[in-house]
Amino acid sequence: MIDEVRIAPSILSADFLNMGAELDSIASADWIHVDVMDGRWVPNLTFGPDVVAACKRRSDLVVDTHLMVADPRAVADFYLGAGADALSFHLEACPHAYRMCQRIRAAGARPGVALNPATAVSSLEAVIDYVDYVLVMSVEPGFSGQTFIPQSLERIRRVRELRDRRNPTALIEVDGGIGPANIEDVVRAGADVVVCGSAVFKTQDRSRTIALLRERARLGKGMGA
Ligand code: DX5
Ligand code: ZN
Repeated sequence: MIDEVRIAPSILSADFLNMGAELDSIASADWIHVDVMDGRWVPNLTFGPDVVAACKRRSDLVVDTHLMVADPRAVADFYLGAGADALSFHLEACPHAYRMCQRIRAAGARPGVALNPATAVSSLEAVIDYVDYVLVMSVEPGFSGQTFIPQSLERIRRVRELRDRRNPTALIEVDGGIGPANIEDVVRAGADVVVCGSAVFKTQDRSRTIALLRERARLGKGMGA
């Protein structure tokens, strides 16, 4: 069976003065992507655990929390306590990846590891068996609205090869610079979960945009429209 691709709008691009309505507008998506930035590991500064708790109160979607922080070990419990359903941390920022995965799983959430565009795909080999998903960054982390790095497609294919061989149930999430124009290629390369920030929130009719993304993603899966 071929799984449907999950669409994960990133609230980094939402209207912060209108978050309730913004979350309601993406109810037809699958995951809500929450980008956590600490102003140190990346230049930008964003959401605390209360934002995750607020998303959980408002929406039934999977709340997917992406930690882009200097010390994920120091903050993971706050986000798990707030109800994050999936929690990813960057391998580049976490020297104890096994322990982090165990901690996330013990809290009842799905552990994910994230890789920056210049981090070797081979660094996943040691942890691939322990994760529920791999997050492949297709832009440098920190900001929405950046251009997709074309070399990411080859990286996704390599992650897929490793995933298929070692942990076939793990999902591949791809994050950065994705919209209707390139989602088909990203899915064809191997993405199961596609993060879209500006491509969703900068449009008026979010349901229509999500439907269009799904339609193009199905083409990438070879499922027809
Ligand atoms: C970048 C974040 C992304 C970002 C994606 O550091 O991890 O999730 O919100 O935004 P777009 O889709 O606009 O590139
Ligand atoms: Zn992200």
